[in-house]
Amino acid sequence: MRLLIVYYSTYGNVYRMAQLVAEGAGEVEGVEPVIRTVPELIPASVVESRADMKAGRETQKSVPLVTKDDFREAGAIAFGTPTRFGNVSAQLKNEIDQLTALWLKGELEGKPAGVFTSTGSLHGGQETTILTLMAPLLHLGFILLGVPYSTQELFTTQGGGSPYGPGHVAGTDNQRAIDPQEAAICRALGRRLAQVGLKLRNE
Ligand SMILES: Cc1cc2nc3c(=O)[nH]c(=O)nc-3n(C[C@H](O)[C@H](O)[C@H](O)COP(=O)(O)O)c2cc1C
Repeated sequence: MRLLIVYYSTYGNVYRMAQLVAEGAGEVEGVEPVIRTVPELIPASVVESRADMKAGRETQKSVPLVTKDDFREAGAIAFGTPTRFGNVSAQLKNEIDQLTALWLKGELEGKPAGVFTSTGSLHGGQETTILTLMAPLLHLGFILLGVPYSTQELFTTQGGGSPYGPGHVAGTDNQRAIDPQEAAICRALGRRLAQVGLKLRNE
């Protein structure tokens, strides 16, 4: 079963989270994690003028853009976005808004999905971002998953991550590394999506 991890990232934090979600999914036998990104909407001239944005682009240059078939073929999907004013990034939402053809045919109905996010600050809106993005995912027919408290790191995280989904606090300069608790919660979402996806597929 293919497990699609589709994300947007300006500076690379959400990309690193996507890799950790993939790591967790890859621990489940019979699951192939597939990481894909979405088109950038920031003008190229702006990215070029910012060393931090350029560096973020550089780390992701080998990641393919997601296709409609990636969505169709996936048995489970994780959506990753940086928080933008407590909400999903325009880049990821732009891709979701182009799923109309799949929506009309019900092609995504019944697939498990989860959401992960990164913020600049600790209380900058991880939970609002995740819950807000879950609304369109419900319209599309996804079965939503979070990360339950059997993942012990939810009790101890000093950074991001909640039962709603993995989170990372990147800091105001976007340089804070993903800490071990945040990483464990990312892997837990990947594993859970993989396990539930396989169960649903085999029914
Ligand atoms: C337009 C804009 C809005 C943002 N809004 C928030 C916010 O509401 N809360 C917050 O903590 N961080 C906010 N940030 C910071 C980003 O969430 C942070 O840069 C991001 O998590 C880094 O992820 P990335 O490295 O994958 O791009 C915002 C950044 C931008 C550019």
